[in-house]
Amino acid sequence: MIDIALSNDPARARHGANSGQPLTRHDGPLKVTGRATYAADQRPEGLLHAALATATISRGRVVFLDVAAAKAQPGVVAVMTPADKPAIFVNPDVHDQPFNFCFQALQDDKVRYAGQPIAVVIAETLEAATEGAALLAPVYESLPPRAHLDAAESYTPPYVGIGHPAIAEKGDVEAGLKGAARAIDVTYETPAQYHNAMEPHVVVAAFEGGKLVVDTPTQGLAMTRARLAQIFALPPADVLVRSPFLGGGFGAKGLLSGPIVLGVMAAKMAGRPVKLVMTRTQLYGPFGHRQPTRQRLRLGVDGEGRLTALAHHAKIATSSFDDFYEGAADASHTLYASPAIRTSHEAVRLDTGTPLFMRAPGEASGSIALESAIDEIAAAAGIDPLQFRLLNYAETEPISGKPFSSKALRECFAQGAKAFGWAGRPLAPRQMRDKDGLLVGWGVGVATFPAVMFQGTARAVLKADGSGAVEATVHDMGQGALTAMAQIGADALALPLEKFELRSGTSESPDAGLAGGSGHTATAGLAIHNAGADALAKLAEIATQDPQSPLYGAGNAGLIARDGRLLRRDDETRGEPYAAILARAGLAEIVGEGSGAANADLQKQYAMHAHGAVFAEVKVDPDLGMVRASRIVGAFAAGRIINPRLVQSQYFGGMIWGLSFALHEEAVIDRRTGRIVNANLGEYYVPTNADVPPMQALLIEEHDPFVNALGIKGVGEIGVTGTAGAVANAVWHAMGVRPQRFPIRPEALM
Ligand code: MOS
Repeated sequence: MIDIALSNDPARARHGANSGQPLTRHDGPLKVTGRATYAADQRPEGLLHAALATATISRGRVVFLDVAAAKAQPGVVAVMTPADKPAIFVNPDVHDQPFNFCFQALQDDKVRYAGQPIAVVIAETLEAATEGAALLAPVYESLPPRAHLDAAESYTPPYVGIGHPAIAEKGDVEAGLKGAARAIDVTYETPAQYHNAMEPHVVVAAFEGGKLVVDTPTQGLAMTRARLAQIFALPPADVLVRSPFLGGGFGAKGLLSGPIVLGVMAAKMAGRPVKLVMTRTQLYGPFGHRQPTRQRLRLGVDGEGRLTALAHHAKIATSSFDDFYEGAADASHTLYASPAIRTSHEAVRLDTGTPLFMRAPGEASGSIALESAIDEIAAAAGIDPLQFRLLNYAETEPISGKPFSSKALRECFAQGAKAFGWAGRPLAPRQMRDKDGLLVGWGVGVATFPAVMFQGTARAVLKADGSGAVEATVHDMGQGALTAMAQIGADALALPLEKFELRSGTSESPDAGLAGGSGHTATAGLAIHNAGADALAKLAEIATQDPQSPLYGAGNAGLIARDGRLLRRDDETRGEPYAAILARAGLAEIVGEGSGAANADLQKQYAMHAHGAVFAEVKVDPDLGMVRASRIVGAFAAGRIINPRLVQSQYFGGMIWGLSFALHEEAVIDRRTGRIVNANLGEYYVPTNADVPPMQALLIEEHDPFVNALGIKGVGEIGVTGTAGAVANAVWHAMGVRPQRFPIRPEALM
């Protein structure tokens, strides 16, 4: 195989001119002018509208639905209930693959959680469907719900996260605590949280001559197609899923959920296309959420402030009918050096929808507790919290002992502290006031997130006119994937962006993997890179064997691909455009294939994580306990950055999520009914512009030769971690009261 580089500079051999540029979003103009079509914009011929009826109890049975009343509503076409529904071909109560979670598709009369769909009304208009759903007036047989962490007997979960052991241990934690000069034993609680993206969950489904066409926003086109094919017993080739744009995903749109299946069932039942758009309130239930946690941390330090033991125990919740467990305590595997570490989890089954992936699942909840505890013990030891973190810096991954593939956290600390102005921070709390008499506090938190990769494939095409394209299921939920992947794709073919096209948005493209786990750019990017390299290799093969080419016989010397031309590496003045090579060979195009996945051997050898340091300043009213963040500075190192503008925007978004975790967000559950009392965007608080302080996100350079060929780690979720802890620690520094329950309420600080 001929060696083709993108540059004679070894550091840039794999990176062309487009990567690293702070380009604006490619799809920005389409979105701001309303020309981007989202799933709910689809209006196929003969469209019907569906509305869900959802349970208002959280545990029990539906004993009566007034189907006759609903059917009598003018415009209603059909009413789908457990007694009257089309067949599906999987058992929705069976979780047989890691990502095949159980779902509710009217399989029985059982109510498992408030907000569970119990019927679907299909009508000529949305108004008629909505009215029909209201007329069903369900009668229930209700049982007392299990609605909080102490409401059921706990057990050790079979695994946490995506298959990690629930208990992990190294060294002797109890001995470490016993021998410590100082020790703390602290507990923190975090609430249930629900993702509620700007674009709700939507499905428009149509059976067109035996084929199923589904418009639904998804972070995983190929998985959605495969699951729908399974559920409706169709060959995958007869299922088309379209998702060109998403108005946010955050994990909720990663896996196919029950209501989307119901929309497809409705189309089958009616024999016409059906649109089902969830209301805001309906998003609090069947689409997953972040589970509540109670976390106990026991830490010990020696006389110098070095950790002697770190024990992190998390009590977490899952649903009554399925298994999903956030690895909240796993945050303690990565960050701090300690001779003894123990992480453990216990779970309870509650009457809620199954918690699922929600931006930094596990790491977010775990990080807020760990970073708070580290701050507490640093304060107990009389050491500056940043100094304490440097003192206990993990040179190797603490629990596994593996070296890090790269770790520029020290640089994050240094540059973040400098930008924030950390030096001179008083050690004791309640020392700083602003001109209005508000107490001012400074806190720091460490951010970390694993460098995850899935499996992805892509196809690259070089065309006779000298242009090129890549085809792959790239999912852009607002993070800028279409732009970043186009940068990688154009570089993979060594073309300027104007001569490059990224084809995406439907399940017909090669499966580039799930957009989740902050692993999309690494996975799909590597597949795209390899597909481009494959196409260029085929082109080079033709050129170097063609006596009419200036590249004839240059195979051993190697080539450089640049700006739509192949050049001899030993003499860059000799080369020719791609178009000339294709023309002489009489080819319309050359196709390359590529895949991207983690290198299992390197993963065994190295711990792969992104890191960051977040510094927050808060102001607290000493009399009323009202907290406002006034500044946040984050410094993040996440390997190679493809588009610094978009990455900065991801960090801002992540830090706002962290701020929300610390100060705003909570699904408030009524313990008597198991219902979420603030299941709407009016009372489920998230930060608005007025809550978000001036923020800085510093991109710290990091070269990682092991994580993958492109050196990409992932940036989507790390910003959530670290930030919540930094804000909580700043609140302590301002008020001298340690937040133990999140979000922090004014009354807790009084
Ligand atoms: Mo993410 S919570 O893996 O979309």
